[in-house]
Amino acid sequence: MRKNIVAGNWKMNFGLDETQDLISGLKKINKTSDAEVIIAPPFTNLFSAFESLKNTNIGLAAQNMHESDNGAFTGEISAEMLKSIGVNTVILGHSERRAIFGEDENLLTEKVNTALKHGMRIIYCFGEELKDRNYGEHQEVVGKQIANTLYHLDADAWKNIVLAYEPVWAIGTGETASPEQAQEMHAFIRKEVKHEYGEDVSESLSILYGGSVKPGNAEEIFSKKDVDGGLIGGASLKAEDFMAIVNAFKK
Ligand code: PGA
Repeated sequence: MRKNIVAGNWKMNFGLDETQDLISGLKKINKTSDAEVIIAPPFTNLFSAFESLKNTNIGLAAQNMHESDNGAFTGEISAEMLKSIGVNTVILGHSERRAIFGEDENLLTEKVNTALKHGMRIIYCFGEELKDRNYGEHQEVVGKQIANTLYHLDADAWKNIVLAYEPVWAIGTGETASPEQAQEMHAFIRKEVKHEYGEDVSESLSILYGGSVKPGNAEEIFSKKDVDGGLIGGASLKAEDFMAIVNAFKK
């Protein structure tokens, strides 16, 4: 069966002390849901987070990685570097990486391939812009985003793929897709993946929703059949809010 997952994308927030404070806060709050919990602090705090999270049920992800194994890429971080400090999951394709840092589908395909080659799990983000939704093209856009970067993979590789549907218009805006809009898109995605890979892959695939998820709206979004958790930005920066979202998962 597919896993329920709640992941916190801290983005470019927090130095060492604040990271440790937030982790201590998370550890103090009881987890009452069955969801897997992951946090993604910035690179500089991943190792200290790894040390602090030993013997807890909170996992770690990186927010990005370079597509090459090593070499003259000043300022970049490789899959092996992440793995060497105990980080086995990476977020790829976030809309901020696409829009601000110009990551296109060719580059993301390379990153996906490199992460999988190194045995990493990928939380793969995608989502339409408001104009796509206004034109009624949101499903077509999302279908292509997934197909162009993931459909070259063989079925077995999908064991290491988690999808995160994040409509760009809902990220950091306070605007959330309605639970019905999220369910509609998640069902569409699962149907597309089933068409390409069959039911075993599509039914075991976790599809997260991201975009202004808060303690007040998480339960309703997570109650939808094809929503298997969330990728949380702003609300992952406060222990109480993040754990309230984790615990909103009643499945
Ligand atoms: P948000 O961010 O929860 O602050 O909207 C979500 C994300 O960017 O992953």
